[in-house]
Amino acid sequence: MKMSFAKILVVLVAALVLAAPQSVQAADLKGDLEIFSWWAGDEGPALAALVEIYKKQNPGVNVINATVTGGSGVNAKAVLKTRMLGGEPPDSFQVHAGQELIGTWVKSDRMEDLTPLFKEMGWMEVFPEGLIKLIGTDKGIWSVPVNIHRSNVMWYVPANLQKWGVNVPQNWDEFFVAADKLKAEGVVPLALAQNWTANHLWESVALASMGGDKWDALWSGKLAFDSPEVVKAWELFGKVLSYTNTDASSLSWQQATDMVINGKAAFNIMGDWAAGYMTVTKKLVPGEGYGWAASPGTAGQFMFLADSFCLPKGVKHRDNAIAWLKVLGSKEGSDTFNPIKGSISARIDSDLSKYNAYLQSAASDFGKDHVVGSLAHGVAANETFMGGFASVMEMFLKSKNPTAAAKACAQLAKKAGI
Ligand code: GAL
Repeated sequence: MKMSFAKILVVLVAALVLAAPQSVQAADLKGDLEIFSWWAGDEGPALAALVEIYKKQNPGVNVINATVTGGSGVNAKAVLKTRMLGGEPPDSFQVHAGQELIGTWVKSDRMEDLTPLFKEMGWMEVFPEGLIKLIGTDKGIWSVPVNIHRSNVMWYVPANLQKWGVNVPQNWDEFFVAADKLKAEGVVPLALAQNWTANHLWESVALASMGGDKWDALWSGKLAFDSPEVVKAWELFGKVLSYTNTDASSLSWQQATDMVINGKAAFNIMGDWAAGYMTVTKKLVPGEGYGWAASPGTAGQFMFLADSFCLPKGVKHRDNAIAWLKVLGSKEGSDTFNPIKGSISARIDSDLSKYNAYLQSAASDFGKDHVVGSLAHGVAANETFMGGFASVMEMFLKSKNPTAAAKACAQLAKKAGI
């Protein structure tokens, strides 16, 4: 069917009119946007790339990038709590998908429902159903996920392992054999940093010790925290700790990673933000400058976490915050942010050609592995449990008493409603 010139003109004008409100509105936004996270310093470049996109789309908005340094949000979360309780919410803040969001902020009725935004942007179809469940309840959807990180990864420098005549251990028994050899040569077998990284290490060790199904059972209340399986995990963890550096509590996660890069330590177990750090900050080539493997005994298991941003109730710049969330959830935003961050996209339609060799392997594992939720990074338990677990860890680092730690966790689980 042929269209007359006049008809084409009418269609074009109509299309322009329909498109106009959105773009005019975006360009019209004014005032501030305060975003809050712990992505400062070495952790900042990926966030900065998102802010860049936002500024291009919303040139009239002044972005206040409020950050509080400290891996896994150890310091930021305390500041955030004070602000939220004091009625001074940032316009949008970083929060982990799962219980950290639902069991903490949604439960206390501090979040706006983002279901209309998800529908408007077509996000119900592009985010995996399982992930939407983790950020949703029967009353709404409460945040926009920006990534998928993997927690159970072991990092090393291939050339160093070759020099020391050590292979990548597939399980903890193999690790202990390699570790004794390394120790004898004056090399720290496993680099560790401040206490939250001990929580991080614990979840990898516990996953290896009890397996994915029991790990899941723990968080759904079907396996008791003081059961023999969990005591055994604490025992193994105690043994693993004896192969770590003694100055751990004074180091950041980046400094523990540096120990591996500099050849002071052989291995490090850290989430794949370490890949972002080694690639972007340290300019190492994945597969050459650094290597990776699932942490010992966890091949076939993908312990995941997802960073997301939310819209607190009563913020000062709501429209600017919604425009921010739109950038985060977009394909462009996601495929710009994640290759720098060291994570894979939370969207199912991401362009993998933009991702490096490590991230492509993570994406492939995520597609085929048994996926379980991280404790240290908010998926498995709420803030009540996580705060208490940090104290149990402090106690364990001093006492090394597996039964006492398991019992304390059982009490904690009751208090946190697990
Ligand atoms: C995690 C967070 C990651 C990374 C890491 C280290 O909790 O999800 O994105 O920032 O902490 O700080």
